[in-house]
Amino acid sequence: MADEIPLTRNAVPEARAEAIRAAVRAISALPGDTAPASPARPEDAPALLAFFSDPAVSAPIYSIPRPLTLENVAAYIRGHQAGQADGVSALLLRKDEAGEVIGYSEFHFWPQWAAGELGGALHPRLQSQGAGGRGALATFDWMFEALDLDLICETSALDNVRTAKLLERIGFQKKGELLSTRPDGTTRPSIVWELTREDWRARES
Ligand SMILES: CC(C)(COP(=O)(O)OP(=O)(O)OC[C@H]1O[C@@H](n2cnc3c(N)ncnc32)[C@H](O)[C@@H]1OP(=O)(O)O)[C@@H](O)C(=O)NCCC(=O)NCCS
Repeated sequence: MADEIPLTRNAVPEARAEAIRAAVRAISALPGDTAPASPARPEDAPALLAFFSDPAVSAPIYSIPRPLTLENVAAYIRGHQAGQADGVSALLLRKDEAGEVIGYSEFHFWPQWAAGELGGALHPRLQSQGAGGRGALATFDWMFEALDLDLICETSALDNVRTAKLLERIGFQKKGELLSTRPDGTTRPSIVWELTREDWRARES
């Protein structure tokens, strides 16, 4: 998560922020049709490391643990467990029957601004068949309705065509560019996208 986002920051009353934190603490599943999602646990580290080790998964994502080691992946999972307990982040995995990770969703929340960010990836064998678009749509809807957010902010690499198409079709607007910092301190230029609840609802009607 970059400190620079979201770009739009509208403070909400503390009671509303606390209700969002409570909703985040309670996250135990996600909408979507590929496989059930559940919060990552430290024992998932080897399977998540294997998933992240494929560049078709990890290359476009700045927040993936780097250097990519078992220790760093376990720390990343523990960091999200602590973040979810604080109501400010969540990390959920989807696995197949064999226990292989086939998708993950990483959330960051700014309850004080009723804002959130979703990142994630699908296993390469599931990519470019529409599942990511469907899952993103369902998850954004859930972020607005179940978590009661006013704003979703996304970042994407400049050359991430699929993510750009997906976000544009859903109604996200390009708000600018920034340098995203990876966990190892290296940086990557990103496009910043935002979608407000008003624009989301207008799109639905
Ligand atoms: C990004 C990701 C979740 C999208 O899911 P997906 O199932 O692969 O994408 P979809 O099949 O739903 O396609 C999304 C859009 O890209 C288009 N698309 C799909 N494959 C494409 C390709 N090879 N080239 C160009 N466009 C493509 C689709 O037509 C669709 O556009 P539309 O919304 O205008 O119809 C998935 O590709 C992924 O895990 N990528 C690696 C990690 C990543 O980039 N994560 C996002 C970081 S911000």
